[in-house]
Amino acid sequence: VVIVTDANVARLLEFPTLARGPLAVLEPGECAKTLATVERLYRSFLEAGLDRKGAVLAVGGGVVGDVAGFAAATWMRGTAIVHVPTTLLAMVDSAIGGKTGVDFEGKNLVGAFHQPSGVFASLEALASLPAREVRSGLGEVLKSAILAGEELFSRIERDAASLAAVDLDVLEPVVLGCVALKAGIVARDEREDGERALLNLGHTLGHALEALEGFSSNLLHGEAVAIGIHFAFRLARRLGLAPESELSRVRACAARLGLSVARRFDPARALELMKKDKKARAGELRLVLPHAIGRVALVDGVPEAMIRAELEAFAASS
Ligand SMILES: NC(=O)c1ccc[n+]([C@@H]2O[C@H](COP(=O)([O-])OP(=O)(O)OC[C@H]3O[C@@H](n4cnc5c(N)ncnc54)[C@H](O)[C@@H]3O)[C@@H](O)[C@H]2O)c1
Ligand SMILES: [Zn+2]
Repeated sequence: VVIVTDANVARLLEFPTLARGPLAVLEPGECAKTLATVERLYRSFLEAGLDRKGAVLAVGGGVVGDVAGFAAATWMRGTAIVHVPTTLLAMVDSAIGGKTGVDFEGKNLVGAFHQPSGVFASLEALASLPAREVRSGLGEVLKSAILAGEELFSRIERDAASLAAVDLDVLEPVVLGCVALKAGIVARDEREDGERALLNLGHTLGHALEALEGFSSNLLHGEAVAIGIHFAFRLARRLGLAPESELSRVRACAARLGLSVARRFDPARALELMKKDKKARAGELRLVLPHAIGRVALVDGVPEAMIRAELEAFAASS
């Protein structure tokens, strides 16, 4: 077994018996999600004599999971991967579903589907997670709750303050709710031929904003997703799909979770990046747009002028 982690996690967590095995420690943060890191991991695998009967154990956040998962997916055409997520974001989202990959020009443009052989999460790991990283995880929780529907959404609305304060008793049912939602969707549509694309709610603009920040800590993934969700509701309102009341409800919930939904950015550059999104078909954008809490759809053929107008209005109002 080769353990892959990052420098922060390696410092915080003890690897009692496992530490005797080979350990690959990455730089913390999105900047490590590159092909160069994958190559480094291949070298660690080679040194450790990792073969197809072995396994990679990814202990860390979504960055560690995505890059170690991709290295495992391609090592000897596929070696087992086990995830031990240590961030809220990884527990509720990235450790589940088998998407692995790295950033290459655009976000996650190189990757593979590679389902983990197991996912082991202990909420106690969250005790050391910085508040900003907790909020970033809550960005994906907000997304999942909008997809899941009224029950989970009203729970996070009600318990927002305790969630942000990492009250484990309050977090547990919410994490389980998000895991159940994602596992259910992935079980029905592993390769994203349909329903799975809904998990990209907030991600078309979100990924573009991350790219505009050069995938740096200026904007964390979950922070970008929260902004993207708000934009999706605004665009849906402009198109007459979602009423104002749903937009205000989501905006208020994001605020209670401590998530900012305003952002200054260049709308023209954001639109160019959005067109490179993986969901786009023949250069035409496909957007995940909400009608209401619990009612979200993949929409083709939204006129570019409408998207541009809403991007401009959104950036100007931020
Ligand atoms: N594969 C998927 O389906 C999927 C889904 C959602 C997001 N993602 C990806 O996940 C990534 C974001 O993941 P993330 O938010 O976990 O980021 P991350 O892996 O960078 O972790 C965030 C920070 O928290 C630190 N950290 C991790 N665990 C800690 C702990 N227990 N205590 C203290 N510090 C800790 C890390 O060192 C890092 O600095 C993005 O690249 C995103 O694209 C993938
Ligand atoms: Zn995401």
